[in-house]
Amino acid sequence: MKKALSLLTVSAMAVSMLAGCGSSNTAATTAATTAAATEAAKTETAAPAAAATEAATTAAAEAGSTDLADKKVGVCIYQFSDNFMTLFRTELQSYLESLGFKPENISIVDGANDQATQTNQIQNFITSGVDVLIINPVNSSSAATITDMVTAANIPLVYINREPDEQEEKRWADENMNVTYVGCDARQSGTMQGEIVADLENKGDINGDGKVSYIMIEGDPENVDAQYRTEFSVKALKDAGIEVEELDDQVGNWDQAQAQSLVANSLAQHGKDIEVVFCNNDAMALGALQAIEAAGETVGTDVYLLGVDALQEACENVKTGKQTGTVFNDHISQSHSAADAAVKYLKGETNDHYIGCDYVKVTTANVDDILASLG
Ligand code: GAL
Repeated sequence: MKKALSLLTVSAMAVSMLAGCGSSNTAATTAATTAAATEAAKTETAAPAAAATEAATTAAAEAGSTDLADKKVGVCIYQFSDNFMTLFRTELQSYLESLGFKPENISIVDGANDQATQTNQIQNFITSGVDVLIINPVNSSSAATITDMVTAANIPLVYINREPDEQEEKRWADENMNVTYVGCDARQSGTMQGEIVADLENKGDINGDGKVSYIMIEGDPENVDAQYRTEFSVKALKDAGIEVEELDDQVGNWDQAQAQSLVANSLAQHGKDIEVVFCNNDAMALGALQAIEAAGETVGTDVYLLGVDALQEACENVKTGKQTGTVFNDHISQSHSAADAAVKYLKGETNDHYIGCDYVKVTTANVDDILASLG
């Protein structure tokens, strides 16, 4: 299990750089993160590892009073082959075990990117009598149907990673449902990508023609993360007074191989006119890098490359200059918050209907700290 505490200090630093990221939850998450960071700072001066162990022990002790060993948790992941969700579910599994759930009572299933498959899995979990469900929906637009199925069976529900729409979240509050969402505000990650470019000495304008010419490689467009990252990365450039030109906008579905071929096509068409390649996640940035190198171009000299997630490999690339920057999507904090929310429901307590988390900008300046945190 990874230590969440040491990351909170980094998160708090990022939050302070983040004026006006547009989240309705910003004030609340800032306050929470700052408080947590203060707590972390206090303990860090003593012994970080001891502090993390103590925090886990306290969480386990609190959870233990509900006798979690007998509780069954069902976890639905939209697709196991997704790099980021693999980190998320691995951490979720080990954190649930550290809280006292028995491994045989934790069931994690692969929706194989098919909503019908996932809906069946949810139905099976309900029939088998799980005590709580943690769901990463295949389609966020199916959330209302999923919520109705699960709440009709009186099972509390924690959504993760793919945020249902505002109307659906409002319904949980209006109808006092034991349903919550744990995730980050994707607008923040897009904004950070744009800011990394705007902070470069040439502000992304490699050829000096007065504008930044970019291509956008999007994740699954049904997903609000893809929509917001696409919109807010470019908005951050414009907000910094930079003129932009979109040369291409393609859907790579969060996938490395798809992104590689899309960026190869785009490079064949636009060549050195492309100054920035924005990818909605790091898996696609890894694919983009393969295409850039195959075209004989160099990141940092011919083109800038941005991703999101802070996958280990992408961070190594940031360190060696093969990727300009990324944004840490904190799977440790998100998976722990999701498990903690599930435990609260099992203890008969309530949760807020939105549990936020902050992204962290990653450049050469802090990549070593991020890599150290990732372990
Ligand atoms: C995003 C993440 C992507 C992908 C997606 C799945 O938050 O950045 O890499 O995992 O979630 O919904």
